[in-house]
Amino acid sequence: MTVITHPTTPFTDQKPGTSGLRKKVRHFQQPNYAENFIQAVFDVVQADPSATLVIGGDGRFHNRAVIQTAIRMAAANGYGRVLVGQGGILSTPAASCVIRKHGASGGLILSASHNPGGPDEDFGIKYNGANGGPAPENVTEAIFARTLEIDRWLTVEAADVDLDSIGTVTVAGMTVDVIDPVADWADLMESLFDFAAIRAAVADGLTMAFDAMHAVTGPYAHEVLERRLGFASGTVRNGVPLEDFGGHHPDPNLVHAKVLYDLMMDPEMAPAFGAASDGDGDRNLIVGKGIFVTPSDSLAMLAANAHLAPGYAAGLKGIARSMPTSAAADRVAHGLGIPCFETPTGWKFFGNLLDAGMATLCGEESAGTGSDHVREKDGLWAVLLWLNILAARGESVAEIARQHWARFGRNYYARHDYEAIESARADVLMAALMAALPGLAGQSYSGLEVEAADSFSYRDPVDGSTSANQGVRVLFTGGSRVVFRLSGTGTEGATLRVYLERYEPVGGNLAAETPHMLADLIAAAESIAGIAQHTGRTAPDVVT
Ligand code: G6P
Ligand code: ZN
Repeated sequence: MTVITHPTTPFTDQKPGTSGLRKKVRHFQQPNYAENFIQAVFDVVQADPSATLVIGGDGRFHNRAVIQTAIRMAAANGYGRVLVGQGGILSTPAASCVIRKHGASGGLILSASHNPGGPDEDFGIKYNGANGGPAPENVTEAIFARTLEIDRWLTVEAADVDLDSIGTVTVAGMTVDVIDPVADWADLMESLFDFAAIRAAVADGLTMAFDAMHAVTGPYAHEVLERRLGFASGTVRNGVPLEDFGGHHPDPNLVHAKVLYDLMMDPEMAPAFGAASDGDGDRNLIVGKGIFVTPSDSLAMLAANAHLAPGYAAGLKGIARSMPTSAAADRVAHGLGIPCFETPTGWKFFGNLLDAGMATLCGEESAGTGSDHVREKDGLWAVLLWLNILAARGESVAEIARQHWARFGRNYYARHDYEAIESARADVLMAALMAALPGLAGQSYSGLEVEAADSFSYRDPVDGSTSANQGVRVLFTGGSRVVFRLSGTGTEGATLRVYLERYEPVGGNLAAETPHMLADLIAAAESIAGIAQHTGRTAPDVVT
C-alpha cells in the first residue's frame, strides 16, 4: 500500500458543536475541508491494524462522497477494517449498536441530524468512540486543537467502493464490509421488547402511523413495524430516504411533523398511536390519539412503565435528563427510589453514567430518549417501548398520561426558539442575563417569585470533569422555572432557546391547555431577559 500525503493548511472553524462538526454542504465541499477534519480525528485516535471503524450516515446529500473519502483515508491511517452501511446508510443509533456489537474502536457518523439536506443545506461529521457514544469533550477538544495545526492528510489510491452491494472488498489492503444497516439494530430491539405481545395487540386492532420524514428511519421502520410486528403496510409514511428529505426539515416537532400531528388530532381518522423520527433517527415525536406527549413527559412515562418490557423488567438503575428537560422524570425517579441525574444538553454527557451503570434511561427535551442498549438516543427504540407499554397495559396514550399526572403531578412545558438571531445580539442578551443573576433571587415577575437563579455547571460524577456555562436557570417558588440557553447545533447566527416549565401538583389543575398555564412564565421570561429589546423579536419562531 502506498500512502499519499496531501499537504494542507488549517481551517479555524472546525470546532465540534453539541453534536459534531456541522456546516453547510458547500462549506464541506471546499478542498481539504472534510479531509482535514477526518484526519484530525484519525490523528487523535491513532488507529492500528486491529482497529475497526464504522462509517455510515443519514443518507443526505454529500453522504456518499464523504464516505468514499473516509474509507480511503481510513486505509491510509492504518485501520484494519471498515464496516459501512449499505447505501452509506446507518442511523445514529444503529451506528452505535454496530460499533458495540462488532467491537469497533469507533465510528464516523455523517449527519446534520434534523437540519435540512441538499446542496445548499447542512452536512455534518461526528466521531463516536468504542462505547458507541459521541466522543467526550476532552476528545472533541483534542480534535479541534489538531484541526488548528494540521498540515497534511493521508489517503490511498483506490477506486470507490460499491456501497450498494452487501459484501466484502479490500481497499489498499484494508477490509471493507458493506453490511445490512438494519439487521443488528433490529435484532437488538427484538431482544429488548415483547414483540409477541405487540404483534398480538396489532392483530387485535392496535394501529399506528409512523412518519420517517424521508430520512434514515424508513428502512428501519419498515423492517420492525411492518415486517416484524405486523402493522399494516402504509403504517410507515415517507419511508424512502431522500438526499434532500423531500425538501422538508426532518425534524419531528409540531411544526415540521404537522401532517402527522393533524392526523392524530382528527377524531375520525387518527390511529391509536403516532410517531416520527428525525434525519438520522435518534429523535422521536410521540403523539397519542388526541394528545401530544412532550419529550419530557415521554421520558417520565417511559421510566414509570419500563418494567413492562422484558429488557427493563429488572428495574432501572437510574434516570438521567438534560438540565432544560422538565423535572417530570425526577418525580418518577423519586417514586421508584432511584437516582436522577441532571446533565448539560448533549447526549455525550450521558455516556459516563450509562457506562458506569448509574443510569438506565436518559432523555432530553429536544426529543431524544434512549437507554443503555446503545450510547445514542434512539427514536424508534422510544416508539417500540411505547408500543410495548400500550400492548401490556391495553390502555390509550391519553389514559396512561392522565393516570401518570394524577400520580406524579404535571410539569406543563414548552420551548420557545428565536432562530437566526445575529450572534452578537444573542451574546449581549446572555451576558446581560449573567450580569443580572446575582440580583434575581427574591424579585417578582408577573406574580412569580424567583427562588434562585444560576448559570448551570455540571460536575461529572464518574470522571470529575466540569462543564460550566451550560444555560441560565431561573427557578421560581413552587417548582416552576425558565431556562435560557443558546443552541449549540445551529449553522446560521444564534438560536435562543427559552424553556418554560410550570409544575402543577397532584390534585391541581392537571387537564389545562399548556399555553394558558405558561402565560405568566412567558411574561416573566420577557421581563427578565429583555428578548424583544435585545433581538427585536416579539414572538418565537418555533414553539415546541
Ligand atoms: C443534538 C444532540 C442532543 C442535544 C441537541 C441540543 O441533537 O444530539 O443531545 O440535546 O442537539 O441542541 P441545541 O441546538 O439545543 O444545542
Ligand atoms: Zn438527530
